[in-house]
Amino acid sequence: MKLSKRLEKVAHMVDHGSTVMDVGCDHALLDIYLIKQKIAKSCLASDLHEGPLAQAKKNIKEYKVENEIQTALGNGLEPIHDGIDTVVISGLGGLTMIGMVKYTPFRLNQVKTLILSPNSDCVFVREYFLNHGFYMEDEALIEDHHIIYPVLKLKKGARSYQKLDYQFGPILRQKKEPLFNQYYQKEQVRVKTLLAILPKRYIKKRWSLKRYLKAINKYALTP
Ligand SMILES: C[S@@+](CC[C@H](N)C(=O)[O-])C[C@H]1O[C@@H](n2cnc3c(N)ncnc32)[C@H](O)[C@@H]1O
Repeated sequence: MKLSKRLEKVAHMVDHGSTVMDVGCDHALLDIYLIKQKIAKSCLASDLHEGPLAQAKKNIKEYKVENEIQTALGNGLEPIHDGIDTVVISGLGGLTMIGMVKYTPFRLNQVKTLILSPNSDCVFVREYFLNHGFYMEDEALIEDHHIIYPVLKLKKGARSYQKLDYQFGPILRQKKEPLFNQYYQKEQVRVKTLLAILPKRYIKKRWSLKRYLKAINKYALTP
């Protein structure tokens, strides 16, 4: 079975032998891959909506992995249960990811690893999780259909970080792979466009976007 390049990257961030919850599983292709490749021991594929979950169940049956993959309907981490050591959340907005944890952090009590691939607001995702009991073990950028996605692997534990780590990734900014430059060129265009359309009365938001733009020029786009 073939996964998208993005989901393949996410899958290979998961430690072998993990018990995984995939929040917002949609089709559950990631879970099926994790089982078929013998990366995960078992998975809980959950989704907020009936439609995607019905598709997930159909795929799970088709690939004959009903014994290894459970499904659950629920919002965010609500359906988590004892024994899950790894949570994957990918293809959702960064602020949605933070919202799933912010008011019910106890749901992550037994979780040792988080694999997050936000499709927006990655800076806030890093800042939130690195300040709430996790450190960055690995970090990558992956290009899929001309879009560059960040994938973060966080482990339970504390380390100290600075603003630049949240903005550019503590590992990514050290590695500075070719995609890093491309990603921040796109970020530069995105932020400039936002600033052009954001009304002047949003003083705080405009100020933080300008600061981010300055940092992109200074730290990400200089060799
Ligand atoms: C764009 S898909 C991403 C699917 C897959 N995780 C991926 O990375 O390709 C987003 C999925 O998340 C589900 N979703 C959205 N909000 C959710 C929430 N609060 N809790 C659980 N699932 C949610 C949607 O129903 C949808 O199936």
